[in-house]
Amino acid sequence: MNRPAEGPGAPGESSPSTSRVTVPELRAARERGRKIVVLTVYDYPTARILDASGVDVLLVGDSLGNNVLGYESTLPVTMEEMLHHTRAVARAARHALVVGDMPYLSFQTGRRDAVKNAGRFLKEGGAAAVKIEGGRKRAGLVEALLDAEVPVMGHIGLTPQSVHLMGGYRVQGKRIDQARALVEDAKALEKAGVFSLVLEGMPESVGQAITEAVSIPTIGIGAGRFCDGQVLVFHDLVGLGEGTPPKFARRYASIGDEIASAARRFVGDVRDGSFPSEAETYSAPAVVGIVKTRRP
Ligand code: KIV
Repeated sequence: MNRPAEGPGAPGESSPSTSRVTVPELRAARERGRKIVVLTVYDYPTARILDASGVDVLLVGDSLGNNVLGYESTLPVTMEEMLHHTRAVARAARHALVVGDMPYLSFQTGRRDAVKNAGRFLKEGGAAAVKIEGGRKRAGLVEALLDAEVPVMGHIGLTPQSVHLMGGYRVQGKRIDQARALVEDAKALEKAGVFSLVLEGMPESVGQAITEAVSIPTIGIGAGRFCDGQVLVFHDLVGLGEGTPPKFARRYASIGDEIASAARRFVGDVRDGSFPSEAETYSAPAVVGIVKTRRP
């Protein structure tokens, strides 16, 4: 699905439809001090809209589980589900880099599984890179993926696949020893070769310390203002999620309310007979005679 870049422009510097964001360009964006914009997305029509809006990276997150498939966490999400949605997003992307999120147990079970599953994101899913959760313990795995020509985005801090180990979705790195460990994780992943790092759920000072400690782009989600870019979950951005949105999310629309209002109006119109109107029907004068009674 990745078409050749048609122009030399940097991400967002030219029309979103004529330049393709690449892994090296994201690194260059950090060097130029240009903020990187990432959104999660799970389907074709939404991906088309986000892609045309100038978003740099379309992340097919395993938050697919909570946001689209109705699971309570990301843990049940399978490779097949991820590939199904990654393919839809990749079919829509003309500008943005598509990153597929490696779901739980697609990489924790060993390098062989990890390389095979990561390769499937590129070969079958149309993604250009994968994301994996975890700190320095993933360094060897990152190297193995790079050996298989798979660019890797790291993800540290509040890593939802570790929800049970963390004892819930808790902000990480609040203690000085934990903060130092996160900086070490980031450095180890950079050394292993990740091209960028998602920093999730940590104090702003820790997000800043990590960003200063590495030279790859950091993409924050609940990690404060000093990261090189920001990522939001699409459903939080547009008001489509269940329950209270997280503290760090900013809602730019209330699509859930819009959908509810449209559905209520449709229910009313069908019940009172005002839908469909004559203008919304097909006619065939030659067969009018077969109708004995007319309703409504
Ligand atoms: O799955 C996801 O949505 C993510 C983002 C929160 C970074 O991993």
